[in-house]
Amino acid sequence: MRKLTFFSLSFSIVFFLFFSCNCFSQSGKETIAKNGMVVSADSIATAVGLEILKKGGNAIDAAIATGFALAVTYPVAGNLGGGGFMVIRLASGETLTLDYREKAPLNAFREMYLDSLGNIEQKKILEGVTAAGVPGSVDGLITAWEKFGSLNFSELIQPAIDLAENGFILSKSTSESFNRYKSEFVKFNSTKKLFVKPEGKFKAGELFVQKDLAATLTRILLKRRDGFYGGITAELLTKQMQENGGYISKEDLKKYSTVSREPVIAFYRDYKVISMGPPSSGGIALIQALNILENKEIEQIPHNSVEYIHFVSEALKYVYADRSEYLGDPDFFPVPVAQLISKSYASQIFNLISDTARKSLEIKPGEVFPNESTETTHYSVYDKFGNAVSVTTTINSGYGAKVVVEGAGFFLNNEMDDFSAKPGVPNQFGLPGNIANQIVPEKRMLSSMTPTIILKNDKPFLILGSPGGSTIITVVLQVILNTIDFKMSLYDAMHSARFHHQWLPDEIQYEEEITISEKKEELEQKGHKIGIKRVLGLVEAILIDHNSGDIIGISDPRGFGYAGGY
Ligand code: GLY
Repeated sequence: MRKLTFFSLSFSIVFFLFFSCNCFSQSGKETIAKNGMVVSADSIATAVGLEILKKGGNAIDAAIATGFALAVTYPVAGNLGGGGFMVIRLASGETLTLDYREKAPLNAFREMYLDSLGNIEQKKILEGVTAAGVPGSVDGLITAWEKFGSLNFSELIQPAIDLAENGFILSKSTSESFNRYKSEFVKFNSTKKLFVKPEGKFKAGELFVQKDLAATLTRILLKRRDGFYGGITAELLTKQMQENGGYISKEDLKKYSTVSREPVIAFYRDYKVISMGPPSSGGIALIQALNILENKEIEQIPHNSVEYIHFVSEALKYVYADRSEYLGDPDFFPVPVAQLISKSYASQIFNLISDTARKSLEIKPGEVFPNESTETTHYSVYDKFGNAVSVTTTINSGYGAKVVVEGAGFFLNNEMDDFSAKPGVPNQFGLPGNIANQIVPEKRMLSSMTPTIILKNDKPFLILGSPGGSTIITVVLQVILNTIDFKMSLYDAMHSARFHHQWLPDEIQYEEEITISEKKEELEQKGHKIGIKRVLGLVEAILIDHNSGDIIGISDPRGFGYAGGY
C-alpha cells in the first residue's frame, strides 16, 4: 500500500504542483513561497525534499531526502558512489560544513596513473573501476541526519527506495542524456543492462525501474553505514574492483568517515559569506576574488562591460594561480587559509591590476591545473525555522566512471582525476605539477565545489552553488556580484550572461548572450585572448527577502531543474 502511495505520488506531485500554483517551477522561473524552499537539478528530487519540509522536517532532513532521491532520478550526477560537501547555517547561528569528499584508496600511490613512459593513462583515470575514489556520499548523508535530522531516517530514504523499486517517469532531458551516453555505457555490462536499450532509445514518459539500486538503498535503510560500507554492498563493490584491477578494498570502505569542518567565513561589503573550505578550493577562491573586487565600487562599472570583464578576469587570474599552488586536502598539506582570504593580501593583488591584461604566465610560474569536468550537481534548501543548507555533490564526469557496481545499481565516481596525477611533470598545458594535490593514500582530491550561504544582517540572504568543475567558482561569484553589487533581482542575476577566466588557459570563456564579439576587439587591445563560447554553470539558488517574508527560488535557466516552495 505504501509503495502504491509513493508510486502514484511520483507521478502526481510534479504535475499537480506544476499546474496548480507558482510554488513549483521549472528552470529559469521564479518560485515564491513563505515557509520553505528546495531547489535542485531534478523535478522529482525537488518534490521529495519539498514534501519533507511540508511534513515538518527541517532543511537538513529535506537535503538528505533530496540527496538520496537525486541518486535515483538524476544519475548523471546525483549519487551513492561519489562525494560532496554540505554547508549548514542553523537558525541558532551555528555554522558548519560536512566534508564527505571521496578519498584515495589505501593502496594508491603517486604514479598510479602513469605508464612506463611517464604519461597519464587517460582511460585508467577516467573510466571504469580504476578511476574511483572511496565514496563518501552515503556516510555524509547519514552523518548529517545523526547530527541534525529531526525526522526518522526511514522517512528520508524511503522516497528514494520507492522511486528506484517502482520506477519514475523519465523526463525528456534524462532520457536524452541516457541515449547520448550510449557509446560509453556499452563498454560495461553492468551499465549496459540498465542504461542502454537493446533496441531503440529511451523516451520521455516511460517508466525507469532500478531494482538493484532499491536493494542497496534498502540495505542502507536497515543497516545504515554498514548497508553500504559493509555487508553485501561492500562485497559487490570490492569483487568488481578485484576482477577489474580497481583499488578500493573492504578496509577502505570500512575506514571511510565524514569530517566536520569549520566553513571559511568572510565579510564582503555588509554581507557575511559562509562557504566550503579545503579540500574544496571553492570557498577560498570565492572569498579571495570577492576581497580583491571589494577594492572597487563595482556597481559604478556597467555590468558585463569591457571594463568589468577585464577587471574581474584579472582578479581571477591571481585567484586561480594561487589555487593551483596552495590548495589541497588540509589533512595532508598546510593550506595557508588565513593568508589567502586576508583583506591585506587581496589589496596587494588589487594594486597589481592595471588597465592592461597581464599575461597569466607572468603572474605565477605554472603549476598543474586539475582537469575537472563539468558534471556535478547542487541543491539549496531553506526551512520555516530559518535553517539554511547548501549542498554540492558529484561523481565528477557525467555518470562518473560510467561503470555501475554489478548487483548494487549505482555508478562509481571517477574522482581520482581531480588529483594532480602527474606531479612535477608537465601537464597538458605544458606546466609542472604541484605537491598540494598529489595522490597520497587516504587523501581527498582537490575540488572546486562552492556550496555557499550568504547572510545579510545576520540572516540567510542567498543560498547557492553550481556544477561546472573549475567554472563553479566564477559562476557563483557572478551571481553574488549581480545580486549584491548590481542589486539585481534573483531572476535577473540568474539570467545574466556569464564569463570565465581561470588563469590557465589564458583566455576569457563566455556565454553567447554576453556578445563578446562586439567587445572582442577592445578586450584584445587590452591584451586578453578570447576563448571558447560555452554554457557556464547550473546554479540552484534561493534568495530570502526578510522585509517581505518572500523566499524566492530559481533553478538555472540553462538547465532542467526545479524550485519548489510552500
Ligand atoms: N569533480 C568536480 C569538483 O569536485 O570540483
